[in-house]
Amino acid sequence: MATATHATAKKTAKTAPASKGPDGVALLKADHRAVEKLFGQFEKARDADRKKALAEKICLELRIHMQVEEEIFYPTSREFLKDEDIVDEAVVEHAAARDLMDEIEAMSPADDLYDAKMTVLQEQIEHHVEEEETEYFPKVKKTEMDVKAAGARMAARKDVLRGQLDRAEGKSLQ
Ligand SMILES: [Fe+2]
Ligand SMILES: [Fe+2]
Repeated sequence: MATATHATAKKTAKTAPASKGPDGVALLKADHRAVEKLFGQFEKARDADRKKALAEKICLELRIHMQVEEEIFYPTSREFLKDEDIVDEAVVEHAAARDLMDEIEAMSPADDLYDAKMTVLQEQIEHHVEEEETEYFPKVKKTEMDVKAAGARMAARKDVLRGQLDRAEGKSLQ
């Protein structure tokens, strides 16, 4: 019967395997929330050692996050987006944040402009995150990009980078 054949075909299409892994967009948004929380802690901190430790943690988290975006999420999504300007702008914003982080990491909380540089970094990151979450990520979600496959690759890469950077910095918070 034609009805039975149709039902079987439908079932097969529905059970096609989806990629396993965390949703890449959700993973990146969770990173954003974690960094926002750290910036909030920095704003309240008064002790110089605590400020230095928080600033280092913020820079470490941002560097890991930006690297997985640049190695995996940005190039993968670039292939699916019609307009690549948003990706180019994100890369330029990352470079500006890295320059500021280089300056901050070379300074001490007692230095003039230390707090100002942290405030400007926070403002730049807030702007960047807003663009990613309100423009970039929604555009990606409308494409055929496999965000779970990207999420799995980013999660694995983050683990490797965290191990490398933690060892290189030789310090951790608390
Ligand atoms: Fe991001
Ligand atoms: Fe980014």
